Amino acid sequence: MTQSTGYILWFTGLSGAGKSTLAGHVSKALREKGARVEVLDGDEVRENLSKGLTFSKEDRDINVRRIGFVANLLARNGVVSVTAAISPYRSVRDEVRAKAQVPFVEIYVQAPIEVLEARDTKGLYKKARAGMIQHFTGISDPYEPPLNAEVVVHSADESIETSAKKIFDYLRSRGLVR
Ligand code: ADX
Repeated sequence: MTQSTGYILWFTGLSGAGKSTLAGHVSKALREKGARVEVLDGDEVRENLSKGLTFSKEDRDINVRRIGFVANLLARNGVVSVTAAISPYRSVRDEVRAKAQVPFVEIYVQAPIEVLEARDTKGLYKKARAGMIQHFTGISDPYEPPLNAEVVVHSADESIETSAKKIFDYLRSRGLVR
């Protein structure tokens, strides 16, 4: 039996931008096409693989390197590795990309911080503004957007179907899905 191609779908963006939701949507569609998919979600990884890590730059970099390491192991065995962590630092994202032995597809889930703050689905922006959470990405900690992401989606302005279609159009253009 021929093994299908694994690759990494790396979602990056601010908290609340919709990384996990879009990653879940795309993962479901990929499974329906017969792909083996594993999702490495930021919140879940921090409960397990990265338990105890803080949100300092050093710890975020460790977290992102771990996610990249596992994503690569899975993908080189034919799995589509879908990651959804803020991964705010460009240099570490680029480091993970450089180490990947499989195609690395970076998807920037862009949304204006004003919109995310107004929506505040987890109530964390309010806490960050009140000083109850230190080093909150976009408020008191940096987010460095990708300069050359393979796909950019605008989650505040477009439907999840539109965003997913952009991703699938790209994957088709690379021969990564039928
Ligand atoms: S990353 O920077 O290391 O990639 P990760 O995606 O794992 O971040 O975790 C982000 C999630 O942790 C956010 O969606 C939010 O729910 C929570 N969180 C708690 N504290 C912070 C913080 N200081 N900055 C950003 N997110 C935080």
